[in-house]
Amino acid sequence: KDENTKYKERLYKANLEAARFFYKNLKASKVAVNYLLSRGIDYKIINRFGLGFSLNEWNSLLKYLKKLGFKDEEIISAGLVINSDKGIYDRFRNRIMFPIFDIKGRVIGFGGRVIDDSKPKYLNTSETLIFEKGKNLYGLNYVIKNKSANSIIIVEGYMDCIKLHQHGLENVVASLGTALTLEQAKLLKRYVNDIYICYDSDAAGQAATLRGLEILESVGLNVKVINIPQGKDPDEYVNNYGIEEFKKLIDEAIYITDYRILKAREGKNLKNQFDKIQYVNQVINILSKLKDDVLIHHYSEQLSNETGIALSVIIEKINKSRTLSI
Ligand code: GTP
Ligand code: MN
Ligand code: MN
Ligand code: MN
Ligand code: MN
Repeated sequence: KDENTKYKERLYKANLEAARFFYKNLKASKVAVNYLLSRGIDYKIINRFGLGFSLNEWNSLLKYLKKLGFKDEEIISAGLVINSDKGIYDRFRNRIMFPIFDIKGRVIGFGGRVIDDSKPKYLNTSETLIFEKGKNLYGLNYVIKNKSANSIIIVEGYMDCIKLHQHGLENVVASLGTALTLEQAKLLKRYVNDIYICYDSDAAGQAATLRGLEILESVGLNVKVINIPQGKDPDEYVNNYGIEEFKKLIDEAIYITDYRILKAREGKNLKNQFDKIQYVNQVINILSKLKDDVLIHHYSEQLSNETGIALSVIIEKINKSRTLSI
């Protein structure tokens, strides 16, 4: 093995030992366990996902890893401590810890959530030699163990992901709080053809959905959008209404084109001339990117009925902009 491989193995090992340390801390901390229980997380899922707790101390993990024989420099490279002028200290303190695994099941980093209102709410491992955020998805290692999954649901948060797993939906991954990348989309394509996006129903989540759609589509995935009503995320929705209601939302998931049209329609009054023209042009723009003529006709008819603009005018404009983009 070359030096680089050996070095990376040390970083994997340091992360694994850190995960074990956090896990033991959690079991010993009533406050931390109670936090998870209060959020409806049960023991079984704590164990399955290896959740942990980082102590409210400046160097408990550092001391622990050094005792195991890790060098400062390795612990720094693993992203587990912060390296400042005043010395090094634990990066994660007083947080619920979510170990992040790669598809081979190795611990590559962590997400950490505060148990009170302090900021930042979440802290993640920074980019390291073994942790490239845009190349991994939280929970994917569990999803691919279950060979029967023929679709994957993408959510925003760690909590959303584990809560759905807890209720038996074992095909859920989280996108690690960053915008979905092309690499992540390609990774997903290796396992399934059908994807559901289920982001928070707040403005940030909806904007991320529109961006994510393009990327998932670009690698040839069939994408549907799960719409969560009432400004919630999947975790909150399941807490409030139960998993059966959430499953109904999956059944009601809509195709990307419908989602885009819905978003274009939002906040517009079609009785207002200006709004209506803007809406029609936005939808024409959406439709002119479709390849299937039957689909185009279907949506054009719908648009014509909705707005009173003649079907022939809509079709003509779509054809024009399709020609332009060839
Ligand atoms: P809970 O409040 O625990 O339910 O988390 P959430 O997942 O609902 O949080 P939110 O919807 O606010 O954010 C979605 C995801 O974005 C989180 O799961 C994190 O991955 C990420 N995120 C949220 N807040 C922060 C932050 O302060 N810093 C960083 N780096 N990421 C964040
Ligand atoms: Mn949100
Ligand atoms: Mn949440
Ligand atoms: Mn959320
Ligand atoms: Mn939230």
